[in-house]
Amino acid sequence: MSILKINNINKTFISKHKTVQTLKNINLEIEAGEFICIVGSSGCGKTTLLNIVAGLEKATSGNIFLNGREISSPGIDRTVLFQEHALFPWLRVIDNVEFGMKMLRISKKDRREKALKYLDMVKLRGFENSFIHELSGGMRQRVALARALAVDSDILLMDEPFSALDNQTKNILLEELHNICLTTKKTIIFVTHNVDEAVYLADKVVVMESSPGRVKNVIYININEPRKRSSLEYIAIVDEIISEMSKETENKAGEKDYEHEKDN
Ligand SMILES: Nc1ncnc2c1ncn2[C@@H]1O[C@H](COP(=O)(O)OP(=O)(O)O)[C@@H](O)[C@H]1O
Ligand SMILES: [Mg+2]
Repeated sequence: MSILKINNINKTFISKHKTVQTLKNINLEIEAGEFICIVGSSGCGKTTLLNIVAGLEKATSGNIFLNGREISSPGIDRTVLFQEHALFPWLRVIDNVEFGMKMLRISKKDRREKALKYLDMVKLRGFENSFIHELSGGMRQRVALARALAVDSDILLMDEPFSALDNQTKNILLEELHNICLTTKKTIIFVTHNVDEAVYLADKVVVMESSPGRVKNVIYININEPRKRSSLEYIAIVDEIISEMSKETENKAGEKDYEHEKDN
């Protein structure tokens, strides 16, 4: 059953000097327990779409339904994990993880139990009493992930959460996130410009194209677990998505050449 329905979303940004249509006719459905990656080149509107789902940005037209209820503002049924961790530096790790649950008025005992469970999952047991400034970038993002998972919202929205990390740290976190999702079956929308991340994590990959941002294709990833980047099926899907995206780049370059010729 689909938990989230995105119906014909359009978004146009209007400023004094120009009007930009950023999203055009976006239609998507997400099933409970599904991990969806939205992939597309920089500027194609991924963050805008995620912000609309989060309720942080208003669509120009269209509707979004979560569990059958139309949404238009932020709510506790959705949690967002950004590229920058947005942790509270003056709180200890454990208090950061418990923060969202405290807002939800979960009892002290229950939130401590849950916080420790998720700190365990992100491999940060033993760091409960550390301060954020004592942690590396990767560890901070683990804390943010534990905090986001612990509130148990209906859907978790992630916007390039690991893109500020070095490659090695990022790959370890991708593997851990994938394993956590296989066991917890959280419903997640994960935005990235990185095709490898998308194929590694997703049940289904939504490929976007730009100007205006549209859904170009939806590709189901049926790769055996554990996913191996060196396997033929993995390489074939990554290639397929990259060639879809480069077709767009070529078309855009062609259009630009044509415009350039027209101008001359
Ligand atoms: N607040 C805004 N005002 C005007 N234009 C915006 C605003 N936010 C985003 N855009 C435009 O929308 C397009 C898509 O941006 P974004 O959603 O950030 O893309 P992505 O996350 O895929 O890189 C960009 O061309 C950007 O200039
Ligand atoms: Mg973005």
